[in-house]
Amino acid sequence: MKCVKVPLKQLNDTRLKLMEIGQMNMDYKIKAADDYGYIPLNGDVEGYEIVDIELEPMKKVPHNFSEILKDELTPEEIENLRTSFDTIGDIVILEIPDDLLSKKQIIGEAALKFTKKQAIYMKNSAIKGTIRIRDLEFLAGTDDSITIHKEHGVRLKLDVKEVYFSPRLATERIRVSNSVKDGEKILDMFCGIGPFPILIAKNHDVDITAVDINEAAIKYLNENIKLNKLKGTVKTYCGDVRQVSESFNCKFDRIIMNLPGLAYTFLDVAVNLIEDGGIINYYEFSDSYEQGIKRLTHAVSKAGKEVEIINTRKVKSTSPGEWHVAIDGKVKG
Ligand SMILES: C[S@@+](CC[C@H](N)C(=O)[O-])C[C@H]1O[C@@H](n2cnc3c(N)ncnc32)[C@H](O)[C@@H]1O
Repeated sequence: MKCVKVPLKQLNDTRLKLMEIGQMNMDYKIKAADDYGYIPLNGDVEGYEIVDIELEPMKKVPHNFSEILKDELTPEEIENLRTSFDTIGDIVILEIPDDLLSKKQIIGEAALKFTKKQAIYMKNSAIKGTIRIRDLEFLAGTDDSITIHKEHGVRLKLDVKEVYFSPRLATERIRVSNSVKDGEKILDMFCGIGPFPILIAKNHDVDITAVDINEAAIKYLNENIKLNKLKGTVKTYCGDVRQVSESFNCKFDRIIMNLPGLAYTFLDVAVNLIEDGGIINYYEFSDSYEQGIKRLTHAVSKAGKEVEIINTRKVKSTSPGEWHVAIDGKVKG
């Protein structure tokens, strides 16, 4: 996240000036550390020291969202309203529990009034199908589902109705990007609109191959490559990675496999394409790491290779007791 760095005694004045010119990013918290304050930015500003650091996102629903609704909903209903908004660029996507569906319009208008975003949509299904999108219902604002989301200094254009994108993976993406070294040859097997490739290629001189089966995702990724100033290169392919990768005549130092429900069924493809000593960033939905480690180890040993598990992480909670987990394995042999 791009921030203005100022001595703590100038923090308040600077904050007010940035707010006045609309350049303070209100989606992240200001950080204070070692006598300096770090103020998140929306865009470029001149005359300040700019640094790139990780900041904590603001709680998705501010307290007075409930205030706006207090005349329309009972305190119990407000309690029941799921208060986790997903903000993607100028769009807010919210989840309304079944017992509040009759009030969805009021809730949508309140969300619009409070967030001052362009559009409010409601989740109308789970994420489903091969291309991992969900049904969205327009509630308030302007019914335009195309937006540009800013994350860790990159701009990601997308249509929230046509492609998968989750702002909740931002921390995972910066973690992976921070572990990449210049010169790596990387394959993102399920790239979507390219949040991993764009962030990594912005920060590193790398050579990335990005594949997705969803034509719309590749269309936006091609736009995102142009929207961002990249140090590395990103080459895109549209199609089923199992088939598309047959034409690749090289191996990769890193393979990213963020298709958590089905990535395990593509482990044979990844293991064939990984360079000796290369890293597979593998993801799945699970209540533990054991299953993923077992699957990765099995696929690797089937190919006569070995894997060293170098890291495991819980990326986000998906349902009670289940997580989107990350397992990083270094493949040898
Ligand atoms: C969970 S999304 C992740 C997208 C992206 N990596 C991200 O983090 O936003 C998984 C993506 O895999 C794509 N996909 C599903 N099956 C595929 C396949 N067989 N080959 C290539 N892409 C596939 C979907 O279209 C979807 O965009």
